Amino acid sequence: MQKALRDLISQGLVETRTGVGAFVRAAPVIRPNDYGWQTAALGSSNISAARPSTALRTAPNDVIALHAGYPDRELLPERLVRAAFGRAARSDATVGRPPAGGLPDLQAWFATELGSTAGAGVAAPSPRDVVIFPGSQSALGAAFRALVGVDGPLLVESPTYWGAILAAKQAGVQVVPVPSGADGPDPAELARAFAVTGARAFYAQPNFANPTGAQWAPEQADRVLDIARRSGAFVIEDDWAHDFGISADAIPLAGRDDSGHVVYLRSLTKSVSAAVRVAGLIARGPARDRILASAEAESMYVSGVLQAVALDVVSQPAWRTHLRGLPRQLAARRDLLVDALREHAPSARLDSVPGGGLNLWLRLPDAVELPRFVRDCEDAGVIVAAGDEWFPTEPTGNYLRLNYSGPNPGSFPEAARTIGRLLDRH
Ligand SMILES: Cc1ncc(COP(=O)(O)O)c(C=O)c1O
Repeated sequence: MQKALRDLISQGLVETRTGVGAFVRAAPVIRPNDYGWQTAALGSSNISAARPSTALRTAPNDVIALHAGYPDRELLPERLVRAAFGRAARSDATVGRPPAGGLPDLQAWFATELGSTAGAGVAAPSPRDVVIFPGSQSALGAAFRALVGVDGPLLVESPTYWGAILAAKQAGVQVVPVPSGADGPDPAELARAFAVTGARAFYAQPNFANPTGAQWAPEQADRVLDIARRSGAFVIEDDWAHDFGISADAIPLAGRDDSGHVVYLRSLTKSVSAAVRVAGLIARGPARDRILASAEAESMYVSGVLQAVALDVVSQPAWRTHLRGLPRQLAARRDLLVDALREHAPSARLDSVPGGGLNLWLRLPDAVELPRFVRDCEDAGVIVAAGDEWFPTEPTGNYLRLNYSGPNPGSFPEAARTIGRLLDRH
């Protein structure tokens, strides 16, 4: 009875009057609110900053979702995450405040991970060089604010991660595109862009780039690093897919540099759990202090519970076992989608099959009207992301970004048949 009453009260159907009793509420007056005054108060808008990306959309269960940015739970170390939350709940992390830079043991873990990839003669980073963030997105914002600043130029690959474009716009920095493809950016174009703009930072993904899947060859990595050094600039390396190598391992560019030119970012959000938003940023010298100051101004510190959970998961021997199993699972999903597209959508083109990461970058014929095509796919039960979101300026072609790590890989052939059928019609 009491519970039923509480439910009715919380639904606004019943009200209680102290000392009198419970009454059915009078029907609320339904009138439209007028928020028109806000139009003048808010003024003009940065439209792209206000529009959420397709990759963040949650999809109903009955559609085939190829748009998502986050891996399905069958690819996550779910048992480890649950156990880690249990242990964290019983620990002092539930009531304590961690240092602003992060839990020292987690800082040490990120430093050791990067250090293990350091080339001969390159000094490993120290735990102090690590700043823990609540996911990469806020780390990108802090790095752009601290290293570039309002109205400063930031070179980015084109296409590149939509979240980085968004973070740059939020930070008020000017993104300057540098063409990039299956082999990474063209070094001559990069050098020219540094010279023309006077930029002091380049945001890049040397391993399994989102969206192209590109992985830089060692000579390419050396060339880019050399250009950055000669330009007195930073490379902000986003190693987002470090744990998602399939036929190759991610080899951080930062492992070649100990002079502070590479600012390295690694997120655990995708490989541990979307609920454990923890990322480590590694920067040396004054850059690290500026980035930490920016992080503190923005969010002060990251919940110690989430940090404890992340550290617990990656410290378990079973984490390594989990990572060893991922390439086989990802390869099966990637190949299923690639084969299905080649069979059912032959007019679409895959320039390369990525050696890691979670996405295919599919080129559609120029005649296709992309927004309408994406809508038609959705009407037919397949959600895809239009590639336009990954271009910092005008798109240079019609692309779809297809994620093969989402739910229900068994439906990939059906998705490819739908894409092929609709392409025939467009
Ligand atoms: C290149 C890149 N960086 C960072 C992220 C996101 O990391 P986080 O979820 O930690 O913000 C993504 C997610 O898609 C990504 O593709």
